[in-house]
Amino acid sequence: MTTDFAIETRGLSKHYRVGRRAIIALEGLTLSVARGEVFGLLGPNGAGKSTTIKLLLDLIKPTAGEALVFGRSPRDSEGRRTIGFLPENPAPYEYLTGEEFLSLAARLSGLSAAESKTRVGELLVRVGMAKASNIIIRRYSKGMVQRIALAWALVGKPSLLILDEPTSGLDVLGRQLVRELILEERQRGTTILFCSHIIPDVERLCDRVALLVGGKLIKQGQVSELLVSEGALMEATVESITLEALKALGLEARAAGSRVVVCFDPAKTQEVLTQMMGAGARVCELTPARYSLEQLFVDAVTHTGVEERP
Ligand SMILES: Nc1ncnc2c1ncn2[C@@H]1O[C@H](COP(=O)(O)OP(=O)(O)OP(=O)(O)O)[C@@H](O)[C@H]1O
Ligand SMILES: [Mg+2]
Repeated sequence: MTTDFAIETRGLSKHYRVGRRAIIALEGLTLSVARGEVFGLLGPNGAGKSTTIKLLLDLIKPTAGEALVFGRSPRDSEGRRTIGFLPENPAPYEYLTGEEFLSLAARLSGLSAAESKTRVGELLVRVGMAKASNIIIRRYSKGMVQRIALAWALVGKPSLLILDEPTSGLDVLGRQLVRELILEERQRGTTILFCSHIIPDVERLCDRVALLVGGKLIKQGQVSELLVSEGALMEATVESITLEALKALGLEARAAGSRVVVCFDPAKTQEVLTQMMGAGARVCELTPARYSLEQLFVDAVTHTGVEERP
């Protein structure tokens, strides 16, 4: 394995045994994330996303296979220093204030007292927690804890940022903040691995994505490739014609408010437009329909045949 990659896994598997039942949390995951890439892990509940992350951080041990982070084993504590991590359910010490907690995290990550004061001050502002920095964490709302945890992940200026559901519990502004932080970090050259159920965020932010279902890798690739590969159709939004009239012409149509959207093969654009206009339709808009990542997700989960959990 080379070190051109921030993350490499080969046949990575994690099985649990609960009573007599074997639970396959992850099975034979092989993937690589290049340095500087923003990589999204997608999948329904129980797919194995957090398991993958925990294996990369040596929080759990693999049943089989191996993982490398910047060419080092996750067991190597020096290697782990390069990672900033936002857990699924962050639990910072609740009797410290936000500022005290981040200062502790900064000192533990190796910053001097002066450096940590500056860094923590900057981050509190960056995550919108400057005003609440002197309140103990026990009194924070869920979103406030999440914001402190995001700052916690960033405090040591990591080369690899691993974010497990970074927008969980955040309001619209908080979600925007996470998107901005990811883009800023990417600009700095940080590699980012994150999982999210908010597919438009994944679509907007990631260079590549992997889709896990039932512990197995179902699809991976560049977002742009995944979105065009599966049926690039043309969509025309039309009015002054009924859905029934369009269907009678043999066209695939669906209602969209007072208008109708017609979907067809781009090679037939001229023919379909002439046919519709001949029937009295007014064409308002013509756009190539993108296959959304959400649709890809639903189709993959529905058609994999892999048992979905829970
Ligand atoms: N300690 C454990 N003991 C037994 N089973 C476990 C354990 N941890 C995870 N699992 C199981 O492994 C599977 C994968 O869990 P994981 O937490 O990786 O899912 P996930 O993709 O992160 O889901 P979510 O979107 O709900 O966070 C689940 O079926 C879960 O019940
Ligand atoms: Mg999870």
